[in-house]
Amino acid sequence: MFSYFRNRSLLQFRSFFFCTLVAFACFLAPHSASAQATSAAYPTAQPAPEWDDPSIEPRVEELLKKMTLEEKVGQLVQYSAGQPTGPGTGRTDYNDMLTKGQIGALFNVVTAKETNAFQRIAVEESRLHIPLIFGLDVIHGFRTEFPIPLGISATWDPLLAERAARVAAREASATGVRWTFSPMIDITRDPRWGRTAEGNGEDPFLDSAFAQAYVRGYQGRHLNNAESILACPKHYVGYGAAEGGRDYNTTEISEHTLREIYLPPFHSAIDAGAGTIMSAFNSLNGIPTSANPFTLKKILRQEWGFRGIVDSDWTSVAELMNHGIANDGATAARKAFQAGVDMDMVSSLYHDHLADLVHSGQVSETDIDEAVRHVLRIKFALGLFENPFVDEKKESSAMLQPEAVALSREVAERSVVLLKNDLLSSATPLLPLSPDVKSVAVIGPLADDGAAMMGSWGGLGNGRDAVTLRAALNQKLGEARVHYAKGAEFSTATDAQIKAAADAAKGSDVAILALGENGPEMTGEAASRAHLDLPGRQEQLLEAVVETGKPVVLLVFSGRPLILPWAFQHVPSVLAVWFPGIQAGPALVRTLFGENIPSGKLSMTWPRSLGQIPLYYNALSTGRPATQDEARFPNGHDEKFVSRYIDESNSPQFPFGFGLTYATLRYGPVELNKPELRLDWLRVGLNKSSSSGPAPLLASANVTNSGSLTVTETVQLYVRLEGTSVSEPVRALKGFQRVTLAAGETKRVVFTVPAEAFALWNDQNVFTVEAARATIWISGDSRSGTGAAIEIRNKAN
Ligand code: NOJ
Repeated sequence: MFSYFRNRSLLQFRSFFFCTLVAFACFLAPHSASAQATSAAYPTAQPAPEWDDPSIEPRVEELLKKMTLEEKVGQLVQYSAGQPTGPGTGRTDYNDMLTKGQIGALFNVVTAKETNAFQRIAVEESRLHIPLIFGLDVIHGFRTEFPIPLGISATWDPLLAERAARVAAREASATGVRWTFSPMIDITRDPRWGRTAEGNGEDPFLDSAFAQAYVRGYQGRHLNNAESILACPKHYVGYGAAEGGRDYNTTEISEHTLREIYLPPFHSAIDAGAGTIMSAFNSLNGIPTSANPFTLKKILRQEWGFRGIVDSDWTSVAELMNHGIANDGATAARKAFQAGVDMDMVSSLYHDHLADLVHSGQVSETDIDEAVRHVLRIKFALGLFENPFVDEKKESSAMLQPEAVALSREVAERSVVLLKNDLLSSATPLLPLSPDVKSVAVIGPLADDGAAMMGSWGGLGNGRDAVTLRAALNQKLGEARVHYAKGAEFSTATDAQIKAAADAAKGSDVAILALGENGPEMTGEAASRAHLDLPGRQEQLLEAVVETGKPVVLLVFSGRPLILPWAFQHVPSVLAVWFPGIQAGPALVRTLFGENIPSGKLSMTWPRSLGQIPLYYNALSTGRPATQDEARFPNGHDEKFVSRYIDESNSPQFPFGFGLTYATLRYGPVELNKPELRLDWLRVGLNKSSSSGPAPLLASANVTNSGSLTVTETVQLYVRLEGTSVSEPVRALKGFQRVTLAAGETKRVVFTVPAEAFALWNDQNVFTVEAARATIWISGDSRSGTGAAIEIRNKAN
């Protein structure tokens, strides 16, 4: 993960530094893990992104000088010119507007023929020939669909996300789309929120690592490469904290929590060079985020130095009226623009009002010029002035390349999280299944539905490109050994359907149930749920199949953790498989039969019950923390006046970072190479280089595979700080690395713990390190393991 350090000399330094550490670690223990640890996700001392090239500036200024006010405003206007539709302007006169230079960007135009046709009008018929940028929600693939982002994040392997994003960029750019509204990096602590499916879960460190990876994948090394597309981290900011998990709802987030939890992924994405960012729908502490100068100007522009485009979300400028901070369109346009939104997506209020606002003196033309610079700078950097068109003949051959499809399968395999795998009476776990199994029943609405495998935001993914679980099982075992019964629709089932499924199970050695949500409809935008159980009668179907006494494997297809207490109690093997994309079937079958060994880990806490939500691992302690985990009743006389429920445990069903594999892993105690740290060694600062003192802190632990198969484990490093000016999380992820362990093997896993691991936003909202007692865990999830303590002391003591 050293590509966080894009500055070459810094990169060389870090590589040298790392090699020295590995050598030292190997000296300490002959079987040290050699995998690279993910370094801190907080940005330090980054050079300007490659696209922010000073040689572009004279071209920007020269063009700006030629533009009329109306043409300048045109660059700040964006419309959807295709499917999907949503609330909007109802405008369709794009050709005429393009001729007049009144549009800067279009989106939802998805074929080379159509993008070329619009582009031709912009560059051949408008006065200044300024090209358009075409955008699209390319969220987890364009035509080659990968698992949903929540699934990709369960790989805990940002490089996989980067490679998937590169594939998506290659396919999208072949159609003329040079801008994706991705990655979605909203922190999600509430699985009721449908958009949980689109993000990387609840942790700022993991999310930051993925944010950077997606940006690198989409934008590539050079934005003017024809296969590179602009990234647009979204939704800035706090959108995932929607109250009650209801989409578009209000958020209240303290500045401290904003800076410590919600902002780091955005800062990391900007630091990785993202050329655009999308403002959000939600209000934040009473001020809508699409009209919020604190987040858009002070933090984004002044503190982070961002020089790219701020795009609004779909009609979020017009929605300022619904929020109640503007009583007319002109005021909405003025407030959004003055707060720092450069481009108005769909609402058309910049088109309608910005020029008049300048004429009436309410908006300055100097500010308009600055916003237009952001847009032109990016258009030059993309090379659109030189190459505005795409080759229509190459479009179809760019799609579904064999390497892309193979990568989709690899990512899907790696995204699977094994939640439970009980021993059978034979004392062996149910999974992996033997290839000699005589017959399997495959049951459920997700067993043979290609379209559902795409989840939400399936791009141009086509259900017909997907290989379903049933098809892959047929291929593996032959149709005669596979007994398929749908068992239920997503939201309904007849008794006869359920009975037929139970009969199929009875006639088979093992039943595989593919249950869960209808991805495109029940997850993603505007798909918040107040009940997180299996929809319709699927729970009854599950219970009827378990009732047969046959061994059952449950595959949970979902865009979020689902509340399934009965299943976790009664079903021997359960896997979270998200929505795996076009290679769903092969990836799942290989996992079931042990050709792929599960290695996924949850990027989001899996609650036991709805009443626990929001439930996240990196919570603060309370003044009365509970020492007992289970519900207070019916235990009766145990501790009362502590922070707990009387009718539910505090603990999750499965913690953040959790995921089993086909082996048992044991973690040894954490060892640190020094007894204390000195404050003057630990220097951190946003946009400044950091230091961890004369010799780095090394934390290490042995990890042993006591099983009989080679497995890969994501080893996690957590830190807690106590004695600081503000309460800090009971644990916070600060590093992770993948380690492959042969059967019976022990490896010593070593982490270099950088200064940033101890940094916090203090009571003055300054990013710093304070004297503290730190505890460090190396563990397989966010709740297990025993921490080792180390003091961070002032020089004086
Ligand atoms: C609204 C969604 O919130 C956003 O994520 C998406 O990029 C835009 N629509 C454009 O489709």
